[in-house]
This record gives sequence, C-alpha cells and structure tokens, in this order.
Amino acid sequence: MTTEPRPARRSAPAPETDPDQQPNTLDECRRCPLWHDATQGVPGAGPTHAPIMMVGEQPGDSEDRAGEPFVGPAGRLLDDALGEAGVTRRAVFVTNAVKHFKWEPRGKRRMHKTPAQREVDACHYWLERELTQIAPSVVVALGATALKALLEDSHARLQEHFGKITRHNGRAILATWHPSYALRAPDPDTRQRVYRDIVRTLAHAKRIAHVDPPDSDDG
Ligand code: URA
Repeated sequence: MTTEPRPARRSAPAPETDPDQQPNTLDECRRCPLWHDATQGVPGAGPTHAPIMMVGEQPGDSEDRAGEPFVGPAGRLLDDALGEAGVTRRAVFVTNAVKHFKWEPRGKRRMHKTPAQREVDACHYWLERELTQIAPSVVVALGATALKALLEDSHARLQEHFGKITRHNGRAILATWHPSYALRAPDPDTRQRVYRDIVRTLAHAKRIAHVDPPDSDDG
C-alpha cells in the first residue's frame, strides 16, 4: 500500500523530540525531528536470519511513500548488482542508517537532504535492534553515512575501509559506494566503475557469508 506524503509544515514550531526515548515502534519514534516531515518510518526488510545485511543512508522519496527500503532507482541498481554478484535476494536484509526521509522542497519536488550526524546517532537505536535480530554474517555499508553508523565513528572514511573486512562489535563489515553514486556520477566511465565496485563488494560479501548460489528460478 502506498501512503500520501505528508506535506511539510515548515512554519510550524519545532517538532517534539527526546533523544533518550526508547520507542517500541517507528511510528512512536521522537528520538529526532525527522519523523515530522516524513510520510512514515521505513524499517528494514528481508528474511529474519539473512546472512547478508546491506545498510544504506536513508529512505528516498519512493521509499518514503512505499514504506519499504530500496524500492526506487537506487534499489533497482542494487538488484542488478546483486544479480551479477550471484546473490539471491532471499539472502539479504536491506535497511538504512536513518529510518525517516530527510528532504527539502525544491519547487514541487522533495529533494534528498543528507542526515546530520546527530540524526544518524539517534537512529542507531533502530539499526542496533536490526543487527541484533538479524545477526548477519556480514554487513555491507553502502556509502559513508552507513559506514559511520555501523562503526559508531563519525570520522570513519569510506576510502580507508574500501575492499577490506573491518570488524566491529564482533561483526564483519564491508564498505562500498552508495548505489546513488553509480546513478549520479557525472560520466559513464565513473558510473560503470562504481557499479563494478559494488558488484565486487557484494561478491566478496557472498564469499564471507557462504551464501548458496541462487536457484535457477530466482530471476
Ligand atoms: N537510498 C538509500 O540509502 N536507501 C534507500 O532505501 C533508498 C535510497
């Protein structure tokens, strides 16, 4: 089911927040102000004991409407990359470092706005719950925001972790580009190189997680 995006009330008073709140559902979450202008919170999706977890930045416009992660253009690119890496969707739980869409109006469009570190920190509450529940063998950080959230280090740099296994809290973390970069990069060569890097990282994750090859009817 799709939900109509809630119009932003930009002149309204600052929304109520409590960074120490311990909500049971995303709907109740007031740990940061992002709930206010989002249509809904977008939790992770996938099998409960998926061996691979992929973490993006935050839901985009399509995800905010659908209530599911990676269903827009970035998700389609990720699906292609998973297919090329030979990873079945059934082996993967996808989620985001931040569960509400942060945006600013540009004309009639809602443009993505990078979440502030305090918002990433506030949302770590939800990411940690997912990591504990899914207990993946390997976690793929898609981009710098996800890497910082997973390592709980606001200074973590993608370049330093790229192509390596980083262990944190007993988890194996692999870092790669965010799929939006492969969509937005200015020239076709860069887009192709970024895409190939993502495929290579997913193939690496599959080796670490000992994922079986997809069935022939997996599409
Ligand atoms: N980009 C993300 O980081 N996450 C999504 O769910 C969609 C786009």
